[in-house]
Amino acid sequence: MELRCTDQTPSAAAFKTLYDSTGWGPRERGEPFYAEALAGSWCCCAVWHGDTLVGFGRVISDGRLHAFVTEMIVEPAWQQRGVGRTVLQALLARCQAAGITDIQLFCAEGKTGFYERHGFVARAPSRPGMQYVADAT
Ligand SMILES: CC(C)(COP(=O)(O)OP(=O)(O)OC[C@H]1O[C@@H](n2cnc3c(N)ncnc32)[C@H](O)[C@@H]1OP(=O)(O)O)[C@@H](O)C(=O)NCCC(=O)NCCS
Repeated sequence: MELRCTDQTPSAAAFKTLYDSTGWGPRERGEPFYAEALAGSWCCCAVWHGDTLVGFGRVISDGRLHAFVTEMIVEPAWQQRGVGRTVLQALLARCQAAGITDIQLFCAEGKTGFYERHGFVARAPSRPGMQYVADAT
């Protein structure tokens, strides 16, 4: 069976199954939580093997200035087979078609090589990316 790549947002159920494969978030989060999150996407790329979502990525964006690539996930058994590349290239093409030049992401541990091969570079230490941490102070 061949893989099918689409820009349609997957169901929250399919996304939750894939998301839970990463161990990133509490499994107790229900499908409505993910449905609301997915509804805020600017664009998506979903890769299906039959009825199974095996790869996904999305962009959150204002559609003009900034784009943030997130939830890049390939089901473990499908990793190292080019699915992630397909997803990322589709997302980058959408951003570039819209003329967005500021395309950012947060890189998971051990994944810098993957993103570097697709044109991403780490920000300079003098202008790092930052994120709010509620109990940091
Ligand atoms: C990061 C992630 C999305 C990459 O997806 P992937 O499908 O494994 O990516 P690809 O197969 O396109 O590329 C991965 C590697 O496989 C290699 N590869 C690609 N096609 C291949 C093939 N047909 N045969 C063998 N190797 C191949 C590539 O050279 C690439 O090497 P690199 O990582 O050193 O660049 C995936 O590892 C993942 O979901 N990880 C868990 C969640 C996560 O950490 N997400 C990232 C958040 S920032």
